[in-house]
Order: sequence, then structure tokens, then C-alpha cells
Amino acid sequence: MRALVTGGGGFLGGALARKLRERGDEVRVFGRREYPELEALGIDSARGDLADADAVCAACEDREVVFHAGAKVGLWGSYEDYFAANVTGTRNVLRACQEQGVGKLVFTSSPSVVFDGRDVEGWDESAPYPERFDSHYSRTKALAEEMVLAADHHRLSTVSLRPHLIWGPGDRHLLPRIAARARAGRLYRIGDANKPVDAVYIDDAVEAHLLAAVQLSPLSEIAGKAYFLCADDPRPIWEIVDRMLAAAGLPPTSKSIPAGAALAAASACEASWRLLGLTSEPPLTRFLVSQLTTAHWFDISAARRELGWSPRVRMEVGMERLAQWIRAVRPFDE
Ligand SMILES: NC(=O)c1ccc[n+]([C@@H]2O[C@H](COP(=O)([O-])OP(=O)(O)OC[C@H]3O[C@@H](n4cnc5c(N)ncnc54)[C@H](OP(=O)(O)O)[C@@H]3O)[C@@H](O)[C@H]2O)c1
Repeated sequence: MRALVTGGGGFLGGALARKLRERGDEVRVFGRREYPELEALGIDSARGDLADADAVCAACEDREVVFHAGAKVGLWGSYEDYFAANVTGTRNVLRACQEQGVGKLVFTSSPSVVFDGRDVEGWDESAPYPERFDSHYSRTKALAEEMVLAADHHRLSTVSLRPHLIWGPGDRHLLPRIAARARAGRLYRIGDANKPVDAVYIDDAVEAHLLAAVQLSPLSEIAGKAYFLCADDPRPIWEIVDRMLAAAGLPPTSKSIPAGAALAAASACEASWRLLGLTSEPPLTRFLVSQLTTAHWFDISAARRELGWSPRVRMEVGMERLAQWIRAVRPFDE
């Protein structure tokens, strides 16, 4: 394949770009920085912002498939910033694919497009987008996904993948945050609930993207559809956190605060950050409290049946790989 990976300098995009290269595909990544570690592997890079239509269009030149994994992620930022990267950015990617004659677009969405603050237990893709979103991230990812699915056409086939909590070696978000808080003595369980959450190991998430790209065509069953991706192995949230801490050589969580106190603290943090105009992420947000106190796991039968995808890496095996990576790379050292 001649592929473009937007967000190729990130966790998922980087793993995907490396895997494509390993298979012998011709890979270009798109992002705002330089990526010498990818260039050293023979991966071409195009620099630019997703909100810049011309830069995105140039990056899509002569590509057969575009993996659109670039996005503003995280828990904090203005709606305008999320909109520019995630909605305008996706509109630019769609236009660029159409103008450059790209045949396939694999969009990395997020299960949060269906979250409304309630427990999500065993939902499948028939779940609608909620009337109210609980974060700018979810809202803008949903708007982007809607555009991607509506754009499916015989000249440009599209599919949307919704991986839940990607984890494993190379993680730049989940594990570093948990480890930093644990080290600072600021990691608290919230309330008594220990609700089931499912997640997907990085290699399995990459595999789903590859399968989607190979299968996608105007006549394929997956064209114009979205798929949840998780391990089909929900575990209590604090078990997952404690296993990650163990992989990083840290003790398990021992402190807890009541859910009401956490929510009040999150509201206070958000208000102060807004008042002071801080761009850094607050230590606690209402979205994070909601994520840590509600169940999130999905029915992945559609991905199994139609994509032919199955999660392969069991949590215990993935955690051992994660621990090995942390020992080798020492990502938390100064
Ligand atoms: N990690 C998860 O658990 C998870 C779960 C569900 C869905 N997803 C989705 O998976 C995708 C990848 O996430 P990730 O965890 O790999 O995040 P990540 O490591 O932060 O990667 C995101 C990439 O997007 C690029 N990017 C952000 N804003 C951009 C902009 N305005 N213009 C150009 N590039 C921009 C960043 O590159 P530069 O900063 O170098 O420009 C970064 O490399 C995202 O679409 C995310 O919504 C992730």
C-alpha cells in the first residue's frame, strides 16, 4: 500500500506507521513536528497542521489509503482548538482524499462518541450519539465520525474504528499520567465502585486498522460503518490501573476519596484553570471522574464478524510486554 498516516508521530499512528513499513508498504506520516526516528526507518514525513487544507492535500498526493489517526486528544482545551484539529482537520482530510483520488480512508474514532455519563455495558454500534456530550473531545470526534461515514462513496470508501483505551508500549497518555500521579502521591481511587472497563492492546488496535484497510472497497460490508474495538475482557478499572502501576514498578493504589468530593474538586479545578487561562491539563476534570466511576465495555461481535478482527493479546501478556518496555526504555526517567 502507498499509505498516509496522519498523527504518525503519536502512539497509535506511530505504531501503525512502523507496522506498515515492516510489511513493506510505502508510508508517509503527517504531523506538526519532525519525526527523525520514523524517517530512520524509511518513512517519509510531511509536516503541517490538520487545520491547514493545503498541507493536508499535499500530504495525500499519490496515496492509495489514508489512515486518519491524528487528533487533539486529552481532557483539556478550548472547544475551538478541539474543533480545528478534529472537525476542520477531518473535513480537510476528506477533501484531500477526494481531490487526490485516494480510494480508502480508515478513520480512528473513539467509543466516547456514544458516552453520555452513564454506564456503558455491552453496547454495540446501534448505540446513537448522545444528545449532550460530556467533553469537547467526544463531541468533536463524533462530528468528525459522522462526516467520515457520510462521505463513503464508490470513489472513496470510508470506515471508522473506535478503539477503547489503547494501552501498551509507547503509550504517551494513560500510563505516564497514572505513573506521575502515583509518584507524586496524588493517585486516589474514586468512591467505592470498581466498575468494569475494557481496553485494547496497541498491537491489536494496529491490526484492526490494517484489516480495515485491506478489506475496504466500495462493495465491502465494512464501508460506511463504525466498529468498537476492545479486548472482550472487561476488568475492574482499578485492577487495570494497579497492573499498569506494577508494570512501571510502582505499588498499587491505596488511597481513595468519595465520588462527591472528587466531583467537587474537579469542578473547582476546571473553574480555576479557566479563570487563570491555564493551558496545561488540570489534575482532575469532571470527564475524568466520570470515566473512572462508570463502566465502559462494548460488544465487539461486529468487528469480529465483519472485519475478521479478534483481539489476540491477553492483558497478562500485554502487561509483561509493557513492563519489559518500561525497563528497556525507561520512559519516566528525567
Ligand atoms: N489512546 C487512546 O486510548 C485512544 C482511544 C480512542 C481513540 N483514540 C484515537 O486514536 C488516535 C490516536 O491517538 P493517540 O493516543 O495515538 O494520541 P497521540 O499520541 O496524541 O497522537 C495524536 C497525534 O495527532 C497529531 N496531531 C494532533 N493535533 C494535530 C494537528 N492540529 N495537526 C496535525 N497533527 C496533529 C499529533 O502529532 P504532533 O503533535 O506531532 O503534531 C499526535 O502525533 C486519535 O484519533 C484518538 O482520538 C485514542
